[in-house]
Amino acid sequence: MKYLHTALRGVLTDEELKLLPGGFERIGHVAIVSIPPEIVRMTDNIAGALLKLKNVRTVAMREGGISGRDRRPRLRVIAGNPQTETLHHENGCSFKLDVARVMFSTGNIYERERLPKLVGPKEVVVDLFAGVGQFSIPIAKHAEPDKVYAVEFNPIAYGYLRENVRINRVGHIVRPLLGDCAEVAPRGIADRVIMGLLHVTHQYLPLAIEVLKRNGGVIHYHESVPSKLRFERPVKRILEVAAGREVEILNKRVVKRYAPGVDHVVLDVRIGPGHA
Ligand SMILES: C[S@@+](CC[C@H](N)C(=O)[O-])C[C@H]1O[C@@H](n2cnc3c(N)ncnc32)[C@H](O)[C@@H]1O
Repeated sequence: MKYLHTALRGVLTDEELKLLPGGFERIGHVAIVSIPPEIVRMTDNIAGALLKLKNVRTVAMREGGISGRDRRPRLRVIAGNPQTETLHHENGCSFKLDVARVMFSTGNIYERERLPKLVGPKEVVVDLFAGVGQFSIPIAKHAEPDKVYAVEFNPIAYGYLRENVRINRVGHIVRPLLGDCAEVAPRGIADRVIMGLLHVTHQYLPLAIEVLKRNGGVIHYHESVPSKLRFERPVKRILEVAAGREVEILNKRVVKRYAPGVDHVVLDVRIGPGHA
């Protein structure tokens, strides 16, 4: 039985319990919950139940999805301490961030654990949409790359990225770069490129190929895609952009359900050498 259902049995009616979300997110000391409009009057009870959890000091409610080019979340604190800046510990890494100002998806945890295991010794990695270091930090901590270039254009996320590089003591490996990846990403340098963005990721595929070394490398390509086209559309887009190069799809997986009928998928793709 889900925590909220158990905690609120007898407080909410059976009908209201059915409308309760199955889960909630925990990022550092903040619990984040979505409350359907039909039970919004029960907000105080729901928040009170979450505040009873160990180490939860703030409860925030989602007010719509993550928006804008810089993927800013829409949250409102509904109980507890109004402080939304937190320190989140996961997989031997620490991430400082303000959950109300920058995006951090708890649903991507498996991907954050998986990627470092794929990175070979001495590789050069370019993380084109680095956020607060969600992929760059665990790769630097758990693999043995030569360098990780972490590109981020939102100054708030970039500030936390730099702070997380410092907190995790990976300054000798991770080089944060502030700016639009189309302008500041180094070219012809990478064994591996991470494209951890949704909605417009395909627009950056030509850039990702330019960032790879001339003899090619691996791209981790994320896309939000209608479930019906789950792997078909991303594969088609990759093949189109990489026309004339050898392409090997190494792996494809659903990261999470993004919205009803829409999946967040990731494909690991090896791109062969370019022409001289
Ligand atoms: C959805 S977040 C994902 C963070 C991380 N890659 C992950 O998957 O968990 C995408 C990040 O890319 C940044 N971003 C979006 N477009 C960008 C661009 N053209 N150049 C650099 N950063 C960009 C946003 O500001 C945001 O922090």
